[in-house]
Amino acid sequence: MNNPDGSEDIELLFNQISDTESLFEYDDSLPQIPISHTLHRSETELDKSITIWNGLGLIVGVIIGSGIFASPGPIVEYSGSVGGALCVWVGAGFLSMCGGLCYAELGTMIPSSGGEHPYLKRAYGALPAFLFSWTGILAGRPGGIAIITHTCAEYISKILETNSGEGNSPFIIKVLAISIICVITFINCISTKASTRVQDFMTTLKICALGYIAAMGAYFLYKGSPTENFKRPIFEGSSSYPGNYALAIFSALWAFDGWNNLNVVTGELKEPSKNLPRAIIGGTVLVTICYFTTNIAYFAVLDKTTVAHSTTIGMDFGKAVFGSVGSSIIPLIVIISTLGATNATVFTGARVTFITSQQGHAPKFLSTIYTSTRTPANALILQASLSMLYILSGDYKVLVNLYSFIAWSFYFLCVFGILILRMTEPYAERPFKVWLAFPIVFSVASSALVAFSIWEAPTQALYALFLICSGIPVYYVGYRFNVTWEGKHV
Ligand code: ARG
Repeated sequence: MNNPDGSEDIELLFNQISDTESLFEYDDSLPQIPISHTLHRSETELDKSITIWNGLGLIVGVIIGSGIFASPGPIVEYSGSVGGALCVWVGAGFLSMCGGLCYAELGTMIPSSGGEHPYLKRAYGALPAFLFSWTGILAGRPGGIAIITHTCAEYISKILETNSGEGNSPFIIKVLAISIICVITFINCISTKASTRVQDFMTTLKICALGYIAAMGAYFLYKGSPTENFKRPIFEGSSSYPGNYALAIFSALWAFDGWNNLNVVTGELKEPSKNLPRAIIGGTVLVTICYFTTNIAYFAVLDKTTVAHSTTIGMDFGKAVFGSVGSSIIPLIVIISTLGATNATVFTGARVTFITSQQGHAPKFLSTIYTSTRTPANALILQASLSMLYILSGDYKVLVNLYSFIAWSFYFLCVFGILILRMTEPYAERPFKVWLAFPIVFSVASSALVAFSIWEAPTQALYALFLICSGIPVYYVGYRFNVTWEGKHV
């Protein structure tokens, strides 16, 4: 202990529990100190230990998950053609990069860790920022976990079905998804080191796996593809209804979701004004290339109708390429990819909850760190319980709609906040200033997507709005009666 008040130890400990993905080595020799509640530490003091490569790994690790195996079907179904589907994938990649670059401006201008809360507070005030944290903790993160584990469980159940003729009932899928959440949360509760090792391994494996699928596709194209997809005009059959493209883009955006996650750790990034935009551009471009080539591989091997109607495309691809062995190999890859994304989301999600609570915007027990494991177990357990509730109560499509509505409403608010801040604080220091066209394009596109999702699924949008607004009385009760979560008021 270097300082009489133990602040040095607290700093070290904070850095341990705040490691995201596999960014740091975990030092077991660090002193154990009894900590029962919140660690108070200003974000500007955080060590700048995340390099550009760590950042790139973090973004790619969070983004690649279930979407590349769950979304290709709906995307080609909605867009109607192979060319339309490929354009949707590239468009969604571009939109994610735009969003990421806008977040880079916010992240370098307001260099706090913890994501969107401080940006919203600066642009709109405390209430919208509080509603973001409220919705993120209650619905956003747990909803995301529920969706990814659902896809993972679907693939596991498919393997069970192939091997034993049993398994594919919705009940079994839910039980499997809940078990996955329990195991991953347990690993995250007992050790940061274990969860970051799992993450390392899985990110590497999933990039290799997508590379492998792409290579198979290239081989089939070279050898002479068995399908007609690239022999006929690729835009043949394209839908002429714009709403279909919005639905297709929504599905693709799920596969790209996670582009904002580096902002969770901006405070710890080395040279953020250079590295944040670089990691975001690098990460989103890399993922777009992976997704594009994987889709080409799907279309090189499977005909358009099979792709459109398949809910487990990895399995069909594997069967077509390797026969019955492949029908197990590719699902295994999907399972690993989704488990990795679940682990990343569990880890970063609990960290956001932890920081939110530490900063006083959520109850204190959520920033408790257990001395024996040095993990934010309360935040993890709350997140897991809510995820399980979502799995039990909703089906996959409902969850995706709900998640997309909530996530994109806040992405829109944050990026629109850039335009507001450029007007209200024109002289504030902006180490990275994004080209103005990006926030404009992103704001128009995201508001259109949100409006469209209200039009398409009004019940789920209403439910999401209810969830967001349910935070208003909580905020005012806290404010009016000075019920303090942060020492002053929420
Ligand atoms: N893009 C991921 C997937 O395809 C989902 C990411 C969920 N969001 C997050 N913030 N972790 O499964």
